[in-house]
Amino acid sequence: MQKEFFAYQAQTTQFAAGFEVAKAQGSYIYGTDEKKYLDFVAGVSANTLGHSHPKIISAIKEQADKYLHVMVYGEYAQEMPVKLCQLLAENTPEPLEVTYLVNSGAEAIDGALKLAKRYTGREEIISFKNSYHGNTHGALSVSGNEYHKNAFRPLLPLVNFIEFNAEEDLKKITEKTAAVIMETIQGAAGFLLPDHSYIQKLKKRCEETGALLILDEIQPGFGRTGKLFAFEHYGIVPDILVMGKGMGGGVPVGAFMSSRKIMETLSHSPKLGHITTFGGNPLIAAASYATLKEVLSSGLMNEISKKERLFRELLVHPKIKKINGKGLMLAVDLGSPDYTLKVAKDCMGKGLIVFWQLYRNEYLRISPPLTISEEEIREGCRILLDVLNFD
Ligand SMILES: Cc1ncc(COP(=O)(O)O)c(C=O)c1O
Repeated sequence: MQKEFFAYQAQTTQFAAGFEVAKAQGSYIYGTDEKKYLDFVAGVSANTLGHSHPKIISAIKEQADKYLHVMVYGEYAQEMPVKLCQLLAENTPEPLEVTYLVNSGAEAIDGALKLAKRYTGREEIISFKNSYHGNTHGALSVSGNEYHKNAFRPLLPLVNFIEFNAEEDLKKITEKTAAVIMETIQGAAGFLLPDHSYIQKLKKRCEETGALLILDEIQPGFGRTGKLFAFEHYGIVPDILVMGKGMGGGVPVGAFMSSRKIMETLSHSPKLGHITTFGGNPLIAAASYATLKEVLSSGLMNEISKKERLFRELLVHPKIKKINGKGLMLAVDLGSPDYTLKVAKDCMGKGLIVFWQLYRNEYLRISPPLTISEEEIREGCRILLDVLNFD
């Protein structure tokens, strides 16, 4: 299969692992080599409930027996997408109420940017240096890493970048700004947290100028930091909330959520202000609804800080310089990109899947399923420490 993978499937780098997957269950992925691999990455923060969670699988099967795609987004009332949007509204603070379901994180970002421009009638977007919001032209335009953008210019005009956590930059948000888009926790940059007072001042500045605050919760959302969304740690509410990845529990999905007043502007002048064929697909919505229900009812979110503490207690080693992040999104600083790549490769050889951060390759990514057990955390950390001792 590896030979055909490299021959026929378009590649994103010249050094993909090409690991051959046979099946995946719980916190483990099983290779065609008949070995099992403990998954500390969860498909890059996507498999919230681990692999092949029985409730997600049965929700998908039940929906598949009824109907698959029946109509483009927004025309028919279908049970699963309706229930998903209602449950989101019931579990997010006001004024967040109405959800637009799409197919990926990047598409949700594009939708959110369009919504902010449409609602405010303004053109400028302010984003953050070192941010990552996805790879469509719109999402790439508001991402703050020159290396990844430069070959694809021209991108969206009137996008300006400010420094994360720098209060003096907030004055660059003005009455001309349609929206400020921020990852609540910067992902690709190495799981960097905003200061509590900074995020409060950012929200206040947005209110003063009439700019909408868009929070990208595509990684921390759906319980990864111990709250359903990470903004809940900071006592503010965004005007537009963007989610994806872990929302699907293993299926492709994205969404942006806002107040009724803001969201309704996408339905007129022009009508069909954002459309998508497969957004709100019933099969995907069934998986996402099952994921959300389980995250909310299982008590999983209450265990996140205990699991984070265990990681931090176990991962003490002279080669670990620091650990960034919150909850089950942790970035382990190993000092150099080459060393981190070698450690990740050697961990794989010993049955542990770890990865690195997109912009900061010296950080090892740890973002396991939220369902990971304490025993599995101990097992994986032991492998990682063995590798650090040896390498
Ligand atoms: C913070 C953040 N925003 C947006 C995206 C884009 O999501 P997708 O890959 O589903 O388009 C990602 C994906 O890694 C992300 O981490």
